[in-house]
Amino acid sequence: LGKDIVHYTTLPSTQTKANQLAQEGCSHGTVVIADKQETGRGRMNRKWYSNNDAGIWLSIVLRPKVVPNQAPQFTLLVAIAIAELIEEELELTPSLKWPNDVLINHKKVAGILTEMQGEQDQINYMVVGIGLNVNHQQDMFESEIQQLASSFKIEAGKTFSKIELIQSLLQRLEQAYQDYFINGFSSVKNKWERYGYLINQEVTYTNANQKKQGIIKGIQSDGALLIETKMKQIEPIYSAEINW
Ligand code: BTN
Repeated sequence: LGKDIVHYTTLPSTQTKANQLAQEGCSHGTVVIADKQETGRGRMNRKWYSNNDAGIWLSIVLRPKVVPNQAPQFTLLVAIAIAELIEEELELTPSLKWPNDVLINHKKVAGILTEMQGEQDQINYMVVGIGLNVNHQQDMFESEIQQLASSFKIEAGKTFSKIELIQSLLQRLEQAYQDYFINGFSSVKNKWERYGYLINQEVTYTNANQKKQGIIKGIQSDGALLIETKMKQIEPIYSAEINW
């Protein structure tokens, strides 16, 4: 990963650019980085505030031989790599809120957006977007997310070198990616559960437009979140918003 890195000072979104490069046939592992994004996007069509150079905003083009169902596993794989990076560099233990949030002290410091293109039997490419709030001060976050967001700097009390973090992150991702194809998802599952947020706690979640309650039990071997319902049944959830 990262043999081909394209760097821009400003882009609308590295995600959009990476999708475009992928369609034009760029190689596996191409990384698109922008200092600032004018229209960064998050999951569920949300805005991702990134019109500043305090964070790391990058997207990676992957061309794994997998079926579309496996794509969510890559989000979890990337989340773990970010969690390990934080643990080592900040000496703090982060939590992973399924499917794509990385939290420190209950506040979001990173998000992952996985998009893909392809057929039922094999994906053509995948674009994994990573946003890390690195050197933000609290007042740099928009009022909407002021209470929910934090940064490495706020949590660790020091400024970080973005370039060093990027290098370390890409190495970790490369390793995690290789491990996935050697060992499968099972090793990912155990690691994820080590950082899993709200495990064994009761949460409210929205699934297929319905608000439900249940207890988070962990993840299934395919990456689905396991929730124990009121009827004491364990249900795999493939897409939901978790609240608490
Ligand atoms: C989320 O938490 O909803 C996902 C946030 C993903 C943000 C990153 S920043 C780099 C890449 N480009 C984008 O426009 N979004 C992703």
